[in-house]
This record gives sequence, C-alpha cells and structure tokens, in this order.
Amino acid sequence: MSGNSGFMIDQETIARRVAELGAEITRDYQGKEPILIGILKGAFVFLADLMRHIDLPVKIDFLAVSSYGKSTESSGVVMILKDIVEDIEGRDVIIVEDILDTGLTLKNIVEHLQAKKPASIKICVFLDKKERRKVEIEADYVGFEIPDKFIVGYGLDYAEKFRNLPYVREIRPEEL
Ligand code: IMP
Ligand code: MG
Repeated sequence: MSGNSGFMIDQETIARRVAELGAEITRDYQGKEPILIGILKGAFVFLADLMRHIDLPVKIDFLAVSSYGKSTESSGVVMILKDIVEDIEGRDVIIVEDILDTGLTLKNIVEHLQAKKPASIKICVFLDKKERRKVEIEADYVGFEIPDKFIVGYGLDYAEKFRNLPYVREIRPEEL
C-alpha cells in the first residue's frame, strides 16, 4: 500500500473493503433498522459508499462537530455545530466517522448521542490510527488500520482541501 510518494490506499482496495464492511453490518443487524449517523464533513464520502452495501432498511442522519481548523492536531474540545434531526431513542445507532485518531472527537460524540437514549451505539470508522489513541475508545467496524501519518482524500481534508481525492494518501510536506 505504499509507493514512492508515501502511504496510500488505492480506489479498488477502498471499494473492496467498504463492500466487506457493508456486508458485515448487514449480517450483524438482520431484522433491525439501524440509523447511520455520519459525522460531517469528513465521513460523507465513506457513508455514501458504505450505505449502498448495506442491505437493510436504514435511515441516515448527520452530526457536524468542530474540526481541527488548519492544524493537524486535535484540541480535545468538540463543539456540536449541527445536531441530528432524527429521534434515536430506542433505535440502533451506527456512528460513521472518517478516522479515529486520539479518540477525543468520537468519545464526545458517543456521550452526546448516549444522552438521547438509543437502544445501542456502534462505531464504524474508515481509518483507525490506533497508536495515536489518548482516550479509551475502540471502533466496532474498521476499514483500515493505518500508521501515524496525516492522511487526505476520500472525504478527509487538510484545511478543507483534498476531500475530493478518490483514494487516500499521506499529505506531502510541501502541502502543509
Ligand atoms: P481525534 O479526535 O483525534 O480522534 O480526531 C478525529 C478527527 O480529526 C477526525 O474526524 C478528522 O476530522 C480529524 N483527523 C484526524 N487525523 C486525521 C488525518 O490523518 N487526516 C485528516 N483528518 C484527520
Ligand atoms: Mg472529521
């Protein structure tokens, strides 16, 4: 998965893995109608692809939280910029996020959604930088475990750029 320009995951590899995750969720939620909650903005590309591989009557919603701004480091302070619209009380929720890094963002999101009394909450992340974790939180579904590099593409940005890359790659020093 790495070429001469650093770490990357190509389009075909992403498509294959996202299809597998969708099939796994379909199996795990048989007879249920989960609500997929995408975390804006980064998760919208992943969610769009993932939901088309989930063969269940799903609903979707979006939650927007504050991001890093122009930095590549998490502040640990998460602001809810836009709350979900659907009533999730008693429902099975799957949080869909682009990347699990320190875990600070997702921990805050889980607490925020837990207060709305869903029947269950699971976490599905496209990328997992396990070695970066600062708080105890694990995803139930992980697309790829990746090394400690700053990644862009497939919805992930640096200063709002690169979200449109159809693959993911490491940011280059001259782009920072
Ligand atoms: P955490 O709170 O440190 O887990 O950070 C999670 C959030 O930081 C994600 O939702 C991303 O928006 C952003 N983030 C963390 N690592 C990266 C990266 O490598 N590329 C792009 N965004 C990242
Ligand atoms: Mg994000």
